[in-house]
Amino acid sequence: MGTSEWHIERRSSFGTESPLAREAGNVPETGSLSIVVLGASGDLAKKKTFPALFHLYRQGFLPADEVHIFGYARTKISDDELRNRLRGYLVPNKGASPQLLEDVEKFLQLIKYVSGSYDSEDGFRLLDKEISEHEYLKKSVEGLSRRLFYLALPPSVYPSVCKMIKTCCMNKSDLGGWTRVVVEKPFGKDLESAEELSTEIGKLFEEPQIYRIDHYLGKELVQNLLVLRFANRFFLPLWNRDNIDNVQIVFREDFGTDGRGGYFDQYGIIRDIIQNHLLQVLCLVAMEKPVSLRPEHIRDEKVKVLESVLPIRDDEVVLGQYEGYKDDPTVPDKSNTPTFATVILRIHNERWEGVPFILKAGKALNSRKAEIRVQFKDVPGDIFKCKKQGRNEFVIRLQPLEAMYMKLTVKQPGLEMSTVQSELDLSYGQRYQGVTIPEAYERLILDTIKGDQQHFVRRDELKASWQIFTPLLHRIDEGEFKPLPYKPGSRGPAEADQLLEKAGYVQT
Ligand code: NDP
Ligand code: BG6
Repeated sequence: MGTSEWHIERRSSFGTESPLAREAGNVPETGSLSIVVLGASGDLAKKKTFPALFHLYRQGFLPADEVHIFGYARTKISDDELRNRLRGYLVPNKGASPQLLEDVEKFLQLIKYVSGSYDSEDGFRLLDKEISEHEYLKKSVEGLSRRLFYLALPPSVYPSVCKMIKTCCMNKSDLGGWTRVVVEKPFGKDLESAEELSTEIGKLFEEPQIYRIDHYLGKELVQNLLVLRFANRFFLPLWNRDNIDNVQIVFREDFGTDGRGGYFDQYGIIRDIIQNHLLQVLCLVAMEKPVSLRPEHIRDEKVKVLESVLPIRDDEVVLGQYEGYKDDPTVPDKSNTPTFATVILRIHNERWEGVPFILKAGKALNSRKAEIRVQFKDVPGDIFKCKKQGRNEFVIRLQPLEAMYMKLTVKQPGLEMSTVQSELDLSYGQRYQGVTIPEAYERLILDTIKGDQQHFVRRDELKASWQIFTPLLHRIDEGEFKPLPYKPGSRGPAEADQLLEKAGYVQT
């Protein structure tokens, strides 16, 4: 199916998927809601998916008279065994209030576990029977019958699982309703495999039923980017090549692959972080103003940015691998997989020609941080010659401790006329005391229930993002591009800082 067809709002052939629901993302729907977590025995399910469902439940978004949650995986365990496994991830180690403990127990009672394989109908028929029973029991609740399948699974089984869902588990209610499928990253390993996967899943589900999740799109300050850019007069005239010298989008973790070496080694840092999380952030920083906030309008603009990215130049890439990475027994001794990368992307359009977008990500570095750093050009005709004038920077810290701050030059307080760099600081912890910032997965699951695809990756977006990185990734896979060693706990290879400097970044 041609991707441009999705520019038009469509009705799902499986029920009353309202275009308005997708536009506004807040049309309340009632009726039975079945949430199925496939891969319920896994890491993501216990650490992120079930806790996000619990938080939604506690906030009243998953009313017990409508909702039932199903865990599905091959592991043979009972309902209670799954509940026991999950309990530890829902209750903090210390200081849980009696109310919280009571809520946890009530939530756990909503969960039923079904065991079965990912490629045979028996398990999925059983799952369908359980869901149908739940729907029958909730028949007294008027409204739609909704089925949400969350694939917390390795991508190798997505096609067979989607086929089983389509064959055995679609919503069958005469009153309408829907079936939606959430798929996790990594969605493919390169352009060809991603397109193959998209085609296979596309034969089974329509685009409005597929939610390709990128949890960075659920982060508070990533969601704030559109508001910041398009609701503030400050930024409108400045956000372009005339004023901005360079943009950095940075992800650092202060731990290594931590037991995920086997998975990580097949993907590497570019596929794990840059091609998806950082590139999505880049789109929101660089895109033009969308016609409206409708998901299709926003995603149209993101695709335009991606399609304007020039081929990556060899001299604008630095790769690294931390010392000790290969000590993990699941990592091959000769692994060429980068755990660190700095890659410069250049956007060939009127707004951004000549401005380097520096994407940097690394494991086992000196800190855990994700931020966007927009550095402005020097002020022309400087008259404050007494001290080197620093550059203006606008920094958006996505995590930890969400904040936005502007670095600016002010007069040093005192008798002398000298300048100093200072900050206008909007730290969320101080400004919004008492406000709990929701977890990314919480928001995104809620969006799926509401039918709002704004914060999910469309097929053409995915394709364009793989197009950017595939040539480089193939060369790394073939061993043509070698990562440089760096010490765990460091800033990464020194060559990355040299590249930053060459690209025009000035430490202020
Ligand atoms: P796991 O390796 O924990 O796998 C999840 C479940 O899938 C397992 O419990 C197992 O269940 C089943 N499974 C594992 N390997 C296979 C296999 N080769 N064939 C069939 N089934 C298998 O994965 P995660 O939970 O870590 O990740 C799930 C998805 O989410 C992946 O796509 C991952 O990339 C993505 N993701 C994970 C993150 C994380 O923090 N863990 C973060 C972001 C994305 P059983 O044997 O019981 O059937
Ligand atoms: C995941 C990556 O997508 O994002 C992990 O697979 C990484 O390697 C994680 O640790 C980081 O997420 P966050 O939200 O902690 O920045």
